[in-house]
Amino acid sequence: LTPIYLDCDTGVGDALAIAYLLATPGIRLAGIGTVAGALNAAVAAANTLNLLATAGRDDIPVAVGGYDPVDGPRPGTPGHGRTGQGRNGIGDVLLPRSRRHPVDESATELLIRLAHEHPGRLEIIATGPLTNLAEALYLDPELPRLVRRVTVMGGAVFAPGNAGKFAEANVAANPEAAADVFAASWPVTLVPLDVALAHSFDETHRRALAAAEGLTQQALAQMLGTCFTYYEKHFSTRRMSPHDCLAAAFATGDLDPERMPTLRIGVDTTAGPRRGQTYFAKVDGPVSADVRNGQNPHEARVLLSLRRDAAPRLLERIL
Ligand code: BDR
Ligand code: CA
Repeated sequence: LTPIYLDCDTGVGDALAIAYLLATPGIRLAGIGTVAGALNAAVAAANTLNLLATAGRDDIPVAVGGYDPVDGPRPGTPGHGRTGQGRNGIGDVLLPRSRRHPVDESATELLIRLAHEHPGRLEIIATGPLTNLAEALYLDPELPRLVRRVTVMGGAVFAPGNAGKFAEANVAANPEAAADVFAASWPVTLVPLDVALAHSFDETHRRALAAAEGLTQQALAQMLGTCFTYYEKHFSTRRMSPHDCLAAAFATGDLDPERMPTLRIGVDTTAGPRRGQTYFAKVDGPVSADVRNGQNPHEARVLLSLRRDAAPRLLERIL
């Protein structure tokens, strides 16, 4: 079984990704670390523990990680509620409370330990800001050598940003961390907004989850319901892109890429309006100052499109 470390900020999208991974054969979710992003890391950990308890998976360790030192939500702040995911980040759904607590290690420590326990085998999936991954790189320079691949839901190539005009939320929350994670010498696959926005869960998917017998599926349906109500009010649509779930599904080999160039990535870490924007350049082309960003240009696979609609596949697995 391929060991997976998931780093997330458990809101609705991340919850779908967790449910997806729990149902995926051939892998073992060896640990989950939380990070501040859509909500603070402690609330994300509580959501994660409760979701795992609902799914009967109290065997998976959950560790609390860092919060964005710059302008992220601070511990004690509930979900900011701006994204339509409710005050608790999971659509105000009240999950059965887990009897467990987060483990004593930090998310960073958990990641480093798992990497050493599974040298050359651990896959990292990151569906939140990259704070914990960057911290792990600072603490253990050997990490890139030990990890098989890092799959990041983040960035935007041609698509506009979703945290302001230019930046995608996970990169925007901690651009320095993202730059360091992209620049490290481990293989990175990026799942940017471009591919995420081409796929969505809608009422059909929500209804299928609501009709399922499992409590987890029913809870996910309620979460989607909260999001849809918000999106309907603000954007006149009842659909939502399963960003994080796509990253999870791609990392576990479940999706068929159509366009996936290897590109050089840079991150804007200035204090200006483009802070958090990702820049891309062809590997054999000229590298602009933006992409260089004062660092060695780093190459990553960037998933731009899939051959088929991913939603039916994601739904089938979660069901
Ligand atoms: C990212 O922001 C979060 O709200 C989602 O879970 C996803 O990780 C998309 O920009
Ligand atoms: Ca997320």
